Amino acid sequence: MKRAIYPGSFDPVTVGHLDIISRSAQIFDEVIVGVLNNNQKAPLFCAKERVALIEEVTKELKNVRAEAFSGLLVDFARKEKATTIIRGLRAVTDFEYELQMSQTNRQICPEVDTLFLTASVEYSYVSSSTVKEIAYYGGDISAFVPDFVAKEVKKRFSS
Ligand code: PNS
Repeated sequence: MKRAIYPGSFDPVTVGHLDIISRSAQIFDEVIVGVLNNNQKAPLFCAKERVALIEEVTKELKNVRAEAFSGLLVDFARKEKATTIIRGLRAVTDFEYELQMSQTNRQICPEVDTLFLTASVEYSYVSSSTVKEIAYYGGDISAFVPDFVAKEVKKRFSS
């Protein structure tokens, strides 16, 4: 059983994330979307809500599940018996941080490797922060997130 973790903040999950999730689900037997429960950030959605959004938009993908985690990513990978961490690369600007993170993770946990998938061109500019900024100013985010997520984001900003 080849199991991979796709970790991130996913605040909220975007069409770019969904593209990486579905492509990963074709490569691995099981993909766990690991949602970082980070106390230092003030997210738009709490980890439980982010997991629920991912579950909703991936419900057709039977070998995908979402779990919140805190602490070190490699500890979460070990706990879930995953041997691969998946990260998406949108542009060269992502590379330096991702390279450092993958090498650090490999140093502290050699049995878990990182696999990079390049973003599909049509999603290469999509980010959760941009989605939140556009929604904050009342703009249209329908091109960047699945419909269900767009509705939940709008609700959050109107409340
Ligand atoms: O979506 P993001 O915010 O780019 O995801 C970053 C994430 C969650 C992958 C990264 O911050 C992470 O793995 N955090 C867990 C703590 C950890 O393991 N830190 C050491 C990484 S070198």
